[in-house]
Amino acid sequence: MTFTYDAEKNFLDKKTLLITGASDGIGKACAKTYASYGATVILLGRNQQKLEAVFDEIEELHPGKVIIHPLDFKTASMADFKTLAESLNDQFECLDGLIHNAALLGPRTPIEFYPEADWSDLMQVNVNAVFQLTQSLLPALRKSEDARLLFISSSVGRIGRAFWGAYAVSKFALEGLMQTLAEELENTTSIRVNSLNPGGTRTNMRRDAYPAEDPQTQPTAESLMPVYLYLMSEEAKHIHGQALNARDFKAV
Ligand SMILES: NC(=O)c1ccc[n+]([C@@H]2O[C@H](COP(=O)([O-])OP(=O)(O)OC[C@H]3O[C@@H](n4cnc5c(N)ncnc54)[C@H](OP(=O)(O)O)[C@@H]3O)[C@@H](O)[C@H]2O)c1
Repeated sequence: MTFTYDAEKNFLDKKTLLITGASDGIGKACAKTYASYGATVILLGRNQQKLEAVFDEIEELHPGKVIIHPLDFKTASMADFKTLAESLNDQFECLDGLIHNAALLGPRTPIEFYPEADWSDLMQVNVNAVFQLTQSLLPALRKSEDARLLFISSSVGRIGRAFWGAYAVSKFALEGLMQTLAEELENTTSIRVNSLNPGGTRTNMRRDAYPAEDPQTQPTAESLMPVYLYLMSEEAKHIHGQALNARDFKAV
């Protein structure tokens, strides 16, 4: 059964949420949806032009509620993440949500033949940058009364699958980072940490992974948004350290 969430209008009014990979696909839908419920959204992505297009869409409907911060995770250093954190510190009292959504797919190739350069790039974007961004923004998340840290995972990050190479391994790493942080932060902060597998979704990444598939057979990014909204809500405050699935999601 499809999960529905009857979110109150503007329930995210006082929240500042940062979404990585917000220039396209699920991240873009997420940014637009959170802004439509009142959140101030910070959009990260590698392509300034695409980010500006999303900025324009949100700014037109919700003026003053969106900022963009172009950053390529492949080349970004810890210093870049620290600079971002300082800039956010100057602009906002705290950060209420960090959605680690950006990811590279990489080649689907047996490990025996997996190109080393692709492996390194993918680990940099999907894992190292996620650690660096998390570490840089934890002080801002700690300042929130009720913060959410959400790692966007995949089914191949929970059960290994042949030929999914570095992408699968990177998602396993995110699950490990989620569990480690969840335990570290459980009793000392109000930050709630979870991972979410969106499941097959009609985006560029899905098209690249399954070029022969009819995209119409996959649900849209927008159809997942009730789950993404719920996970930022007061009602979801008790969910912590969980590996969640957007498909077949049930509020507990
Ligand atoms: N779609 C699915 O079926 C599916 C299934 C399971 C899990 N997921 C997960 O869901 C999340 C969103 O995926 P999606 O399908 O929406 O993918 P997508 O359409 O390819 O979007 C990925 C986003 O990440 C950004 N990105 C890629 N490399 C980056 C880099 N080096 N630095 C900064 N940003 C970068 C992309 O920027 P550009 O716009 O510049 O490309 C884009 O905004 C990912 O974590 C993915 O692993 C997706």
